[in-house]
Amino acid sequence: GAPAKADVSKLEPGQQMTVEWRGKPVWVVRRGEEALANLEKLNERLADPMSEKPQQPDYIPKNAARAVRPEYAVMVGICTHLGCSPTYRPEVAPEDLGPEWLGGFFCPCHGSRFDLSGRVYKSVPAPTNLVIPPHSYEDDNTLVIG
Ligand code: FES
Repeated sequence: GAPAKADVSKLEPGQQMTVEWRGKPVWVVRRGEEALANLEKLNERLADPMSEKPQQPDYIPKNAARAVRPEYAVMVGICTHLGCSPTYRPEVAPEDLGPEWLGGFFCPCHGSRFDLSGRVYKSVPAPTNLVIPPHSYEDDNTLVIG
């Protein structure tokens, strides 16, 4: 299939957009400095913080940010449990997700939790991190997926 392109220049820190690629929703989330710093704090609560199970192309760093450009998270918006669509929950410590929540994605079907890099928490039904599709940047503003 053809690659999908998206202009990411209008995305403010904390905002998310969805780009369709091969019939799948691909999320792009712009992360501010605080959100990026928070990712490191989560490592011990995650099942695979260093992405040892390949859910991303080889050229994506296997670190907390999992991104070509750390500011922009790019991932397939499909839960790795049974394929539901997780909800974007960027807020810190909302009442329903608890005081330890630092922003991420919550799957309403069976309660799986992912951080803002799509890394899965321990002790949830989803077995792996969210998938990162192949992608690159044509220029500062233009993301190319596929
Ligand atoms: Fe997401 Fe089951 S499909 S937790």
